[in-house]
Amino acid sequence: MGTSVEIQISDMHVGHKTAIMYPDGNLDYKPNKGQKWVFWVWQSQFLPAVEKLLDKYKPDHVHLSLLGDMGDIDWKKRTSFVWTRDTEIIRDNAVTLLKPLVNMADSVHSVRGTLAHIGEGGGIDEYIASDLDNSVPAEGYKQFSHWYALFELEGVLFEIAHHGKNRSKWTDLTGLISLGNEIILKRTKNGQRIPDVVSRGHFHWSGHIPDTKPYTVAVASWQLPTDYVYRIDPTVETPHVGGHVVVVRDGEIIKGERFKYMYERSKVWKPKKGIRKWLKK
Ligand SMILES: [Fe+2]
Ligand SMILES: [Fe+2]
Repeated sequence: MGTSVEIQISDMHVGHKTAIMYPDGNLDYKPNKGQKWVFWVWQSQFLPAVEKLLDKYKPDHVHLSLLGDMGDIDWKKRTSFVWTRDTEIIRDNAVTLLKPLVNMADSVHSVRGTLAHIGEGGGIDEYIASDLDNSVPAEGYKQFSHWYALFELEGVLFEIAHHGKNRSKWTDLTGLISLGNEIILKRTKNGQRIPDVVSRGHFHWSGHIPDTKPYTVAVASWQLPTDYVYRIDPTVETPHVGGHVVVVRDGEIIKGERFKYMYERSKVWKPKKGIRKWLKK
């Protein structure tokens, strides 16, 4: 056996005006301030950090997992806050964004996200997955996106899916612990092997519980808060932006690294000092 690096990305929501987009000069739409920040994090923080890890561990194999909601076609037409509904434009923009990671990876697994964002039959997640080099096809189907996937790297078993425990808002560490426990119970009952690493997207929140079996991970998103988020709880913690990397060697997890970035919220506003204009008169 040798060393493998597993890179995990989730919830890019390309197409939504609060989410990451590749600043393609040929498009009529130009990214807003928040989108520019998310792309800046992607380009100048996250990708170089992943490259640095690859330089350090010099893996024999690099695997990329896309945990769903990579594009957002707003299938249920619940918002007008999308910059396009053209699936080819969304696919091309997402594929261009992903290119540096796809180039690093020898194989790619994509799982399907939430129907309302991606559409039926895998929707935009399938469309993106089918356009990536080295996508692992779903067994028995002529498709490249999976509802969930199990794969083994260097003897370490990974399980990935989009949805985690059915929670009303974000996950938290308790949610991750109960997810891990539920998997142990179900798999033990069925006489199945328990995965060593379990990862979920969907929550737009970054969390992990190291030194547990399974090592349970919530992978962050590449989207800033939407109107939906503010409706649920206007003071909620800003969704986390980032990704996750797991390094495995000879049957062991040797590193689980969380990349978490947060957009700075507006500072408390105060009026400028001085006498009001009307008093001067
Ligand atoms: Fe999402
Ligand atoms: Fe989702």
